[in-house]
Amino acid sequence: MSKFNIAIDGPSGVGKSTIANLLADAYHMIHLDTGAMYRCVAYYLLKNKVDVNNEKELLDALENIDISFQEDQVFLNGENVSKEIRMNEISMAASKFSAFNAVRKKLVSLQQQIAKNKGYILDGRDICSVVLPDAEVKIYMDASSKARAQRRYQEYISKGIDADYETIFQDIVARDYQDSHREISPLQVAEDAQVIDTSDMTIEEVVEEIQKIIDEKV
Ligand code: DC
Repeated sequence: MSKFNIAIDGPSGVGKSTIANLLADAYHMIHLDTGAMYRCVAYYLLKNKVDVNNEKELLDALENIDISFQEDQVFLNGENVSKEIRMNEISMAASKFSAFNAVRKKLVSLQQQIAKNKGYILDGRDICSVVLPDAEVKIYMDASSKARAQRRYQEYISKGIDADYETIFQDIVARDYQDSHREISPLQVAEDAQVIDTSDMTIEEVVEEIQKIIDEKV
């Protein structure tokens, strides 16, 4: 197991998870998709009709949420929710609820706990700045909103999930705004992160670029 961590931040649909999975294979590391964790919380809060403006209700709900991963499958309290958490409604809800301090506190501490022994690749919005400020490798992946919408559309279709390009595009633009304008840990480029604009790059080129950075750093 590698004795370093990799932090990857970037906006919705930029391909962070795909790249993180490939890097995890190449370096024998474990990929933790932190967005999936926010999605699980959103799914639980919506499904259980939790009044998120009632602090006690929200804290009680968060206590009852157990998230686990088995390979590329995500489990919420033992239920495989891998498909459900990718629905557009959940994407927007995850973005909305991720602005709540209690939600971030719980998930950030869980993520730090998981990655503390090194050998992890975390992808999300606040990994370089908040979750793993000491990560040995820090990357910010970017791409135009059109390129990202197209990629996410293809990803959904290839997984057999119903998708509409225009809805995905609007969702990405709205989520970009929401994720970068919230008060706590907004999406931003960390000072010491290396920025890669992937708009015109293939997956292989992005992996190669990051491998160069990793090989220089560690
Ligand atoms: O990466 P994703 O699209 O699956 O993430 C879903 C939402 O979760 C995203 O819109 C914002 C939130 N999120 C976050 O606030 N912090 C993270 N580290 C990861 C995701």
